[in-house]
Amino acid sequence: MMIQNQSFFFFFLSLIFNTLASPSLQRDALLEFKNEFPISAPPFHKSVSSWNTSTDHCSWRGVTCNANSGEVISLELELTNLNGPLKSNTSLLKLKHLQHLTLTRCNLRGDIPSSLGNLSHLKYLDLSRNNLVGEIPSSLGNLSHLTTLSLGNNHLIGEFPPSLGNLDQLTLMSFSSNNLNGNIPSSFASLNKLSYLFLSNNQFSGGDLPCILTNLTSLLYLQLSNNHFKSRLPSNMSELHNLVIFEASGNSFVGNIPTSMFTIPSLQVVYLSGNQFEGPLEFGNTSSSPELRFLDLAFNNFKGLVPEYISRFLKLDTIDLSHNSFIGPIPRSMPELVSLSILDLSYNKLEGQVPSFLWRLDTLTLSHNSFSSLEESLQVAVNGSHSDLSKCTSLYFLDLSNNHLTGSIPACLMNCTASVRVINLRNNNLSGFLPDIFTNATELRLLDVSRNKLVGKLPKSLIKCKSMRYLNLKENKYKDTFPSWLGSLVSLRLLFLGSNAFYGPISSHFGFPSLRVIDISHNRFNGTLPQDYFLNWHEMSLVWRNKTGWSNHTVNEGNSYMFEINGYYDMDMMYKGVDTKFPRIFLGYKAIDFSGNKFTGHIPKSIGLLKELIHVNFSRNAFTGSIHSSLANLTNLEALDLSHNKLSGNIPPDLAWLSFLSYLDFSHNFLQGPIPRSTQFQSQNCSSFEDNLGFYGLEEICGEIHVPGPTSRDSQQSDEFSSEESEEVLNWLAAAIAFGPGSSMFAKPISLSLSLSTLFL
Ligand SMILES: *[C@@H]1O[C@H](CO)[C@@H](O)[C@H](O)[C@H]1NC(C)=O
Ligand SMILES: *[C@@H]1O[C@H](CO)[C@@H](O)[C@H](O)[C@H]1NC(C)=O
Ligand SMILES: *[C@@H]1O[C@H](CO)[C@@H](O)[C@H](O)[C@H]1NC(C)=O
Ligand SMILES: *[C@@H]1O[C@H](CO)[C@@H](O)[C@H](O)[C@H]1NC(C)=O
Ligand SMILES: *[C@@H]1O[C@H](CO)[C@@H](O)[C@H](O)[C@H]1NC(C)=O
Ligand SMILES: *[C@@H]1O[C@H](CO)[C@@H](O)[C@H](O)[C@H]1NC(C)=O
Ligand SMILES: *[C@@H]1O[C@H](CO)[C@@H](O)[C@H](O)[C@H]1NC(C)=O
Ligand SMILES: *[C@@H]1O[C@H](CO)[C@@H](O)[C@H](O)[C@H]1NC(C)=O
Ligand SMILES: *[C@@H]1O[C@H](CO)[C@@H](O)[C@H](O)[C@H]1NC(C)=O
Ligand SMILES: *[C@@H]1O[C@H](CO)[C@@H](O)[C@H](O)[C@H]1NC(C)=O
Ligand SMILES: *[C@@H]1O[C@H](CO)[C@@H](O)[C@H](O)[C@H]1NC(C)=O
Ligand SMILES: *[C@@H]1O[C@H](CO)[C@@H](O)[C@H](O)[C@H]1NC(C)=O
Repeated sequence: MMIQNQSFFFFFLSLIFNTLASPSLQRDALLEFKNEFPISAPPFHKSVSSWNTSTDHCSWRGVTCNANSGEVISLELELTNLNGPLKSNTSLLKLKHLQHLTLTRCNLRGDIPSSLGNLSHLKYLDLSRNNLVGEIPSSLGNLSHLTTLSLGNNHLIGEFPPSLGNLDQLTLMSFSSNNLNGNIPSSFASLNKLSYLFLSNNQFSGGDLPCILTNLTSLLYLQLSNNHFKSRLPSNMSELHNLVIFEASGNSFVGNIPTSMFTIPSLQVVYLSGNQFEGPLEFGNTSSSPELRFLDLAFNNFKGLVPEYISRFLKLDTIDLSHNSFIGPIPRSMPELVSLSILDLSYNKLEGQVPSFLWRLDTLTLSHNSFSSLEESLQVAVNGSHSDLSKCTSLYFLDLSNNHLTGSIPACLMNCTASVRVINLRNNNLSGFLPDIFTNATELRLLDVSRNKLVGKLPKSLIKCKSMRYLNLKENKYKDTFPSWLGSLVSLRLLFLGSNAFYGPISSHFGFPSLRVIDISHNRFNGTLPQDYFLNWHEMSLVWRNKTGWSNHTVNEGNSYMFEINGYYDMDMMYKGVDTKFPRIFLGYKAIDFSGNKFTGHIPKSIGLLKELIHVNFSRNAFTGSIHSSLANLTNLEALDLSHNKLSGNIPPDLAWLSFLSYLDFSHNFLQGPIPRSTQFQSQNCSSFEDNLGFYGLEEICGEIHVPGPTSRDSQQSDEFSSEESEEVLNWLAAAIAFGPGSSMFAKPISLSLSLSTLFL
């Protein structure tokens, strides 16, 4: 009897227990949870809206039950637009056996309720990519079974509660992309099971990182990028003997990079760019077969040589040491890095030869150094075998600009051109001919050999560059006629031939259907331009987008042409009175510069068809006749320079309507009559009108006393002024879209290369 009573008692107890955890209560809790989000919106209906009493709740989308007891142990919702806050008394708390809770990308708003700390069985909590605000409740430190805590991509603020250091079962903690600040609590030193720690993109400033990190011996992936950390790295980083990926760029870490870091045998990826590391780069004794394949130390203060030892890391495929103060030559041992495909050493003080083995890379950026020559040898010993330029089949991006390279451009580059997208040799001392190497360069989009000493005629094989968008030959010694044959390059957007010795007429059969910027200034072009000269310049006359529409259209279009470019690409766009800085190029910048030639006759009135022009420069020629009022059709015009010609007659009064004009120059002509009345005209410098036959209405511009005319001519002074103006070079930072470190775990890291889509609009 006694025994029977006892068993009845236990039966009764279990009845109560089962009722508490009974399926219907669990189901009701889920339905209540659903009803906590009355203003939810699609795609809500795809998951939660199918929850109804006609089916077993354990079969509901996102719900998993314990097969025996029917208790809900897992709730996983993703991309469900709950569009509301998680209430502090949320019915989720009734799902006491919940081990796994994922509400990611569910548009949860408001604070994280501290009552979540009561879900004591939770092992997995993922509320990432919501719109959560407020501080991290310290009660989360009660969830002692947690192995995964992911709250990344929210708007959390404040400091870490030290209680999180109690979560000693954690293997993954992610708080990246919030607004958290303060120190990393010392209690984190006990998280020694942590394999993934993601804290990037916050405002953390410190904590005893050297001490904490050394204790996190299970770390595989450590991400601290884009915070305000200022400390040194732990001196004994080899304690982190499992580390595979270490990202800490965009902080203010100081001191050396401890050699112990490079002795971690598992280490594959190191992003430490944009810190204040200094001193010589040293690698220590690496393990026998180091795994390191990605090394980014750009934008630091390293000095000294690039160590030969770097070539011990045979698996390296990407090296970025740009923007430091490295000196000396490229290490002789580097050809041993047979996997190397991306090398960026730009903005250092490196010198010597550019070894020819580098042509076999995909991306080579050596700009802004002091390299003096290109190695011409075709045969380069690599591990005893021989490799030559016939192997350079993957070259994609080549930037050797802003060095001291002398000699000629090697014809053997020919074999590298089939894949190449970008060749930038700008601002060196290269001489001789540009070799005829472009037969297979059908992918080439950008060729810049400006500011060298290249002579002769343009290589005819350029005609094969069907993808060319940007061709810059400025400031060389080319002596050739106008390359109208390039007019069949249907994608060519920007053509710079300025400051060479080109001569003769420019063809009246003008192709170049996509041209947006043409600069043929400071050459010896001559002859007259027919009145209909600009008739078929389609791209410049099209008005097919307004300025708002432009940016989106072109950014999208840009993507399809996008190619990677390391560093910023700067090109000297003239132009006084015109803002040519990024993102201006996205806004359809269009310009023609015919200045400094020997053109005669009238300025073609068909110029009025090029309605989208922003900058027009016909100065320093021998144009005659009057200024045609068709110029008033160029309603986007911001700068107009007609100075130093033989123009006569009046300034057309309609020009007063050009409301974007900020720079005008009519000086040194034979003009006369009234100055058009508009803010644009009245705000010009007096010198913009000087040395003409006699304007009137200049008083407000020049003051009562000094009204320049033929009598007040002071040619020396004005020449000085103009040359100063025309020398002005605006550095134009073109589009640069930075790719940060891959955000998805173990995604193949993309280089910090910057992508440029400017020229491809
Ligand atoms: C309940 O949900 C099921 C799918 O899970 C659906 O087929 C059914 O129409 C729903 N019933 C009601 C009354 O909404
Ligand atoms: C939560 O509390 C509010 C009042 O603050 C109440 O209206 C609501 O019914 C409660 N919800 C649950 C599930 O207890
Ligand atoms: C949950 O936690 C809060 C504070 O963290 C506490 O006040 C409350 O009593 C706990 N229990 C329930 C069922 O919410
Ligand atoms: C949970 O955490 C809070 C705040 O950290 C604490 O006050 C409370 O005692 C904890 N409760 C349990 C059951 O551990
Ligand atoms: C570091 O970890 C060890 C165990 O791995 C632990 O005993 C020690 O307390 C930890 N150090 C700190 C500062 O938490
Ligand atoms: C550094 O850490 C390694 C690996 O944990 C250990 O073997 C070595 O003794 C440590 N060295 C120093 C100087 O602490
Ligand atoms: C180009 O490659 C071919 C083999 O593909 C080789 O015979 C030739 O010498 C190479 N030319 C140059 C200039 O390197
Ligand atoms: C150009 O490409 C063609 C066809 O792919 C190939 O036969 C030829 O050898 C290439 N020429 C050079 C100079 O690479
Ligand atoms: C243009 O210049 C060339 C010399 O470069 C000269 O032979 C020719 O006569 C000039 N033409 C005109 C129209 O001035
Ligand atoms: C400009 O373009 C945008 C986007 O294409 C369009 O929404 C807007 O109506 C246009 N504005 C004008 C004035 O055409
Ligand atoms: C351009 O794109 C941005 C984001 O992609 C969007 O917010 C903006 O409304 C778009 N503008 C136009 C005019 O379409
Ligand atoms: C100026 O624009 C008008 C209307 O867009 C056009 O009809 C006219 O031909 C243009 N004038 C010149 C000289 O291009």
